[in-house]
Amino acid sequence: MSTPLETPSRPFDVHDVRRDFPILARPLPNGATLVYLDNGATSQKPLLVLDKLREVEATYNANVHRGIHQLGDRVTVELEAAREKIQRFVNAAESAEIIFTSGTTMSINLVAFAWGRKFLKPGDEILINEMEHHANIVPWQQTAKATGAKLRYIPLTADGRLDASHFDRLITTKTKLVAVTAMSNVLGTLNPIRELAARAHQVGAVILVDGAQSVPHLPTDVRDPAIDFLAFSGHKLYGPTGVGVLYGRRELLEAMDPFLCGGNMINEVHLESSTWADLPSKFEAGTLPIAEAIGLGAAIDYVQSLGFAAIHAQESKLLEKALRLLPQTPGVTIYGPSFEHRGSIVSFTVEKVHPHDLADLFDQKGVAIRAGHHCTMPLHDWLDVSATARVSFAFYNTEAEVDALIDAIHYARHKFRLE
Ligand code: ALA
Repeated sequence: MSTPLETPSRPFDVHDVRRDFPILARPLPNGATLVYLDNGATSQKPLLVLDKLREVEATYNANVHRGIHQLGDRVTVELEAAREKIQRFVNAAESAEIIFTSGTTMSINLVAFAWGRKFLKPGDEILINEMEHHANIVPWQQTAKATGAKLRYIPLTADGRLDASHFDRLITTKTKLVAVTAMSNVLGTLNPIRELAARAHQVGAVILVDGAQSVPHLPTDVRDPAIDFLAFSGHKLYGPTGVGVLYGRRELLEAMDPFLCGGNMINEVHLESSTWADLPSKFEAGTLPIAEAIGLGAAIDYVQSLGFAAIHAQESKLLEKALRLLPQTPGVTIYGPSFEHRGSIVSFTVEKVHPHDLADLFDQKGVAIRAGHHCTMPLHDWLDVSATARVSFAFYNTEAEVDALIDAIHYARHKFRLE
């Protein structure tokens, strides 16, 4: 799924980059300085994206593919240009393979309904694993119930990875679909998509990759290694909320029935039956999140202006520092694999302080993190903890913010009279 890191098109200076994100410099209501370490939940948007949203709404707002007027023409051109940017960004063969959805969850549900319910039958197997987000578990549970297919789980290694010795054995001719995250939203684990895709294709199965956490941090190429479906969200990629993407291979999208039905997705409607529009409209019923989709195109322009080499270098520095300092901090346990197997996410617990209390006390110091089960209850059962605290870095975070995180842990421990 990942291509080699390209050369940055702009020299990277984190303080310079932070000026593109006005929210990072705004004092919080309690007067603290924001240390935003919750990028896995949603990332901040650069001015380029905010300006684009305003430009669309203020100067050429109209519906796409409908208005026979100048505003309608302009907004349609902009939306299709955004689709082409996304196509190039993930290296899809054609822009018709890029479907706009509301986000990763809808993209996965689309495949579960429109592909799963049509092609799965009793005795077939759907293969997932315990590190998946609920959005990549529950749709498959429901699909399994509806079709009689069996849901199977690849076991995790002790450090929270997927191991070829396990999935080679579990991917058999019964396997029809492998659904896997490219990067765990809790452990940060980078999964072996190349090996999984090769093995799935060897037995004639289809592979769906949840790219919600990986796409903002690593280059993505849906043709190397070849995958069948990729789901990701705009708002974790420095773009707007409410828009996401499903990439699907044309042959599969053509064979699927529609997911949502209504305007835009039809060719002809008669009283008793209808025929479907060509791709991508077949899967885009109703009015799209238009400004948001165009804003996502601007977010991709922004990411490409930095380049993944620079993004990766900055995030790796932060990850390395967090993985070094957190275990040295009294009472801290971190979860997940070593540096070389993970992206810029670290989940941890602090002995005798519940993660919700930690997040609350961190907030007093301006440090924003996520606490809870992070929509991964089965993974937390596997970890044998009810909740964790999670930091998730973006390229605009600084090494000083990792120090602020460690200071916040000491502050929380002090408040709990542990030091
Ligand atoms: N799935 C997002 C997260 O992990 C919301 O925070």
